[in-house]
Amino acid sequence: MNNFIFHSPTKVYFGRGYEKQIGSLLKEHGFKKPLLVYGGGSIKRSGLYDAVTASLKEAGLTYAELGGVQPNPLLSLAKKGIELFRAEGCDVLLAVGGGSSIDTAKVIGLGVPYDGDVWDFWCGKADPKTGIPTVVILTIAAAGSETSESAVITNEDGMLKRGRNSIFNRPLFSIMNPELTYTLPAYQTACGIVDIMMHTLERYLTLPGEVELTDRIAEAVLKTVREYGPIAIDHPDDYEARAELMWAGSLSHNDLTGCGHASVFINHKIGHELSAKYGTAHGASLAIAFPAWAKYCYRYNIPRFAQYAVRVWGCEMDYANPEATALAGIVATEVFFRSIGMPVRLSDIGVGEAELDDLANRITSGGTGTVQTYIDCGKKEFLDILRLAL
Ligand code: NZQ
Ligand code: ZN
Repeated sequence: MNNFIFHSPTKVYFGRGYEKQIGSLLKEHGFKKPLLVYGGGSIKRSGLYDAVTASLKEAGLTYAELGGVQPNPLLSLAKKGIELFRAEGCDVLLAVGGGSSIDTAKVIGLGVPYDGDVWDFWCGKADPKTGIPTVVILTIAAAGSETSESAVITNEDGMLKRGRNSIFNRPLFSIMNPELTYTLPAYQTACGIVDIMMHTLERYLTLPGEVELTDRIAEAVLKTVREYGPIAIDHPDDYEARAELMWAGSLSHNDLTGCGHASVFINHKIGHELSAKYGTAHGASLAIAFPAWAKYCYRYNIPRFAQYAVRVWGCEMDYANPEATALAGIVATEVFFRSIGMPVRLSDIGVGEAELDDLANRITSGGTGTVQTYIDCGKKEFLDILRLAL
């Protein structure tokens, strides 16, 4: 087991009705004026916007708002939010939505107290020294940003989609009412299912081999999502299924499933380039990356991939040929992704061989960078992986 620091300070209010207390909760924390950050309109159609603003008014709070955050959110809107926050004299960020709204709020939170260009934090030029707190009302079980220390943003100048970790990104508190996810289209629910599984697998299918307790927690998250995900797709208003997914989403990315492991997030690296270049939804991009990456890398840790196959997918262990068991787990994952409506090949999103060189360049910072996973992956290795995804 590797050394680790586990610090997941976000307070969670889980269950029905907590969103109606948002005004009094903010007031209890001493805040006076939130900047409300939300997406393209789902919270207006569902009535959540009205419920939230009514609660703020009831608590005697004023607010400013920044709507129109798009999936795979853009830096330019976050920069507008930084100016707005300052001009309006706000004191807290209130993100109502999914990972895109939450991450936009987090970018604003790091940018407001910073004199320079907030992108400095994403391109490695500077480290955040402080941040404005973000509070969340979650409407989709997926990115895990409601408890994570990460914020992912796309700079339109070069369409660079990058993540940045910082302790200041951890939301102060998050409200998670599974009922708020009933209105999700099946496709978005499926994208969330894949993302939750991938946050777990990016930590689980790594080195060192076994970290028994962490492994068992990770396997529980994966099996829960496998069981309840399809129920939530077929019955969007099944409270228990939505609740299981929502809690799994947070546990998959608050670092609990990585304690003692190295985590590499190599599939996310591939996925981010697909999202930046083709606008692919985040979960869908991971459903394409994983089968190819796994088929390329399983050979470097066959026992681990076989363990995954047996414990998560119920595959039978073939002691004479553990490689066959390892591969069976990868195939089971791919079949599951396909069964919930996800693309699993680049061709499913219209991307062909001619695109691979540019994609590999983007993943490796112009062909020069490497990512240490089981092996050092540079441009050549990523090209091999991408070919398996065709
Ligand atoms: O914009 P609106 O109208 O709200 O619609 C959204 C959006 O179209 C819709 N939606 C959300 N809740 C809904 C709903 N529609 C109906 N009913 C509801 N209850 O779903 C669409 C996707 O929303 P988005 O916020 O983009 O989803 P998600 O939570 O999957 O976030 C994806 C973003 O998070 C990043 C991804 O890269 C991507 O940019 N990630 C952030 C992470 C983090 N900060 O820790 C980790 C992840 O690995 C991920 O990279
Ligand atoms: Zn993700």
